[in-house]
Amino acid sequence: MILAITSGLAACNKQPAVAAPEDASTAASAPTASAAASTPAPSASAAPSAAPVVADASPPDSGTKPVQKGLVCTDNAQPGRQCVAPFTAPVTGMKGAMQDDHYSNYDANGCFPANALIGTCSGVRDARGPVKTGGKCCYDVCTVPVPCGRPMLVEGSPRLAPSAKRDDWGGPPMSVVAASSVKSRAVDAWLSDAHMEHASVAAFSRLSLLLFSVGAPSLKKKIAHRAAAEEVEHARTCFAIAASLSQESVGPGPLSLAGMELHADLRTIALEAAAESCVGETVAALALSRAAEACSPGALKTSLRAMAEQELSHAELGFRIVAWALPQLSDSAREEVLGALSVPSYDAPMIATEEVDAWREVGRLTAFDMRDVEREARSIISAARSELSS
Ligand SMILES: [Fe+2]
Ligand SMILES: [Fe+2]
Repeated sequence: MILAITSGLAACNKQPAVAAPEDASTAASAPTASAAASTPAPSASAAPSAAPVVADASPPDSGTKPVQKGLVCTDNAQPGRQCVAPFTAPVTGMKGAMQDDHYSNYDANGCFPANALIGTCSGVRDARGPVKTGGKCCYDVCTVPVPCGRPMLVEGSPRLAPSAKRDDWGGPPMSVVAASSVKSRAVDAWLSDAHMEHASVAAFSRLSLLLFSVGAPSLKKKIAHRAAAEEVEHARTCFAIAASLSQESVGPGPLSLAGMELHADLRTIALEAAAESCVGETVAALALSRAAEACSPGALKTSLRAMAEQELSHAELGFRIVAWALPQLSDSAREEVLGALSVPSYDAPMIATEEVDAWREVGRLTAFDMRDVEREARSIISAARSELSS
């Protein structure tokens, strides 16, 4: 039961999904995290299988290295292709050459190197390319979904802002100390999360607008707006943790919205809510809760617990949207949305045994911790899916 995961989440479970009058018809059928707790977890075989990536056969534009053939995705990573406009900053936002707060490590075609795509919150584990195709820089990638809350997706790829040296995105004050053996990795991980949280602000702002286009009840719009504001605080907290560790203030640069779609039908909104809010935010809540349990009492633990509670409320918003949308959808669309309620395997670093305690002390989870989080999330999501199907 999610109530048992941490006392910090208890308040959320005592008052789940309190419906406003116009929401009453759907709130009754919207599953809550607490209602989902007793269902056994589905087997890990439900996770997506890996398949080799087929390299682009078209000739590359001059000045750009061809995609390497034979990229094989392992450990449940999914093969895919990501294409961005030339001179777009890499989604990881921090890897590669930064000059005057702008990314500058482009090749002759304005494409960044493939390794700049790889990052925890971008979800990219491996990448090959670029190949210039149709005027865009294209990469073959292996991705795993990100456990960092609701991603800002543009054309199916997470979009993050580049890093910029600034001190107006920090707070609350943190005093996080890391063992030297894990310090730089911890800084990278918290900066990566900070950028993802920052992008989640835009993702919830977009959701707020999309809800207008399908005539959603006022309560859902209100919660989506509140979630965007909460994601601002999550981003500030993550930047503050990174700054405490590195003694350098970093924040987000401009977040490009080029290509962001502001038109979506109810099916698409429900699909996004299922995958990104119901699943992604549930995993984020459980991961933060577990991270809070594992670190020592202090400001970090308190902040992680607070973030976990809010991520859980973001998951509940997703369930509200799905429960409201399902009766309005066709049978096939309903099956699609229910099918999106599936917890895949998430990325987390393998940490040497002697470094595990130090890693957890800075609020981070190991790959083994994430397997536990996935099991708990599968139990919750599986029960929710059953409830929504009935
Ligand atoms: Fe968040
Ligand atoms: Fe969130």
